[in-house]
Amino acid sequence: MIETIKTKVENQYKQNLSMLEMFKSEVESGLNSSPKTLPSKYFYDKKGDALFVEIMNLPEYYLTRSELDIFQNKTQQLIDVLDLNPDTYFELIELGAGDGLKTKKLLRSLDAQNFKFDYIPIDISVNALKLLEQDLDRALPNVSVKTKHGDYFEVLGSLKKSKKPKVILFLGSNIGNMTDELATQFIYNLGTNLQNGDKLLLGVDLIKPKKIVLPAYNDSKGITAEFNLNLLKRINKELGGDFNLDNFEHRPEYNEAEGIAKSFIVSTVHQKVEIKALKKTYEFAKGESIHTEISRKYNDPIIEKIISKTDFGLKTKIMDGKEYFADYILTRH
Ligand code: AVI
Repeated sequence: MIETIKTKVENQYKQNLSMLEMFKSEVESGLNSSPKTLPSKYFYDKKGDALFVEIMNLPEYYLTRSELDIFQNKTQQLIDVLDLNPDTYFELIELGAGDGLKTKKLLRSLDAQNFKFDYIPIDISVNALKLLEQDLDRALPNVSVKTKHGDYFEVLGSLKKSKKPKVILFLGSNIGNMTDELATQFIYNLGTNLQNGDKLLLGVDLIKPKKIVLPAYNDSKGITAEFNLNLLKRINKELGGDFNLDNFEHRPEYNEAEGIAKSFIVSTVHQKVEIKALKKTYEFAKGESIHTEISRKYNDPIIEKIISKTDFGLKTKIMDGKEYFADYILTRH
């Protein structure tokens, strides 16, 4: 027992160390590129997670509310298109645990209709999984919850052994933070871990006018700005950087024709920044930007193009009342 705890602690230590090495090398290659870039996945430290929760509750950030509308008001439609058989045990696997608010609506309805299933949320945050598990134990004590900690694909690989039908949930337009090439690769890889007939429920934000999209990434309270700039704070803290946050600002853009929102951090003065862990100093011209994030918006042709290179077929999509957001239902063939 003591040995197991010791191994766990050692593994966690090794994992943290390799995550730090990865962070270092991605920051280095991003800041050496021209134009400079930094990966958005590093937004999510403890502070970044908390800021993202605030973002999801902002009046301008319509995405979460729109998808909640689908899960709340079109639950039966979701269940029907997933073609679930009440007599067959299945696995409902969610990539990213979140706070479970949307998924809980679906779980409640499945539970009430006596479907037989395990709910398996996968996340790299042990803390997020623990909170979700506690909440579900209280709210839906009959639902079997099997949390899995780790990388999505490692966990999915380990779940491959079970031949139970699977439904994968990838919600919140998280796919939109990937380029179309990466999204294609990601969905293709999902397919390799599934069997014929398994389903993927993919939640995506839809292309819509700039006057709606841009404020979602440029809220009046400045939370999104803080979220974006938190990346520099994280470099200061974890890599010994000396970014002066007063000399950088958040700049979002949205190109409706392309359907992509982009976030940048712009240097407001000519300055030099040292990052001790990299033993390097980077120079920033006044007005020079660091590209930190893409948030892709979708329509049917874009989704069809992406999935045409994977082993999935498009079944249908379900939209919220305002048609801002869609949950696409894809079947592995
Ligand atoms: C997590 N992801 C889908 C969010 C988005 O809308 O791209 C992250 C975010 N970035 C700024 N605001 C929210």
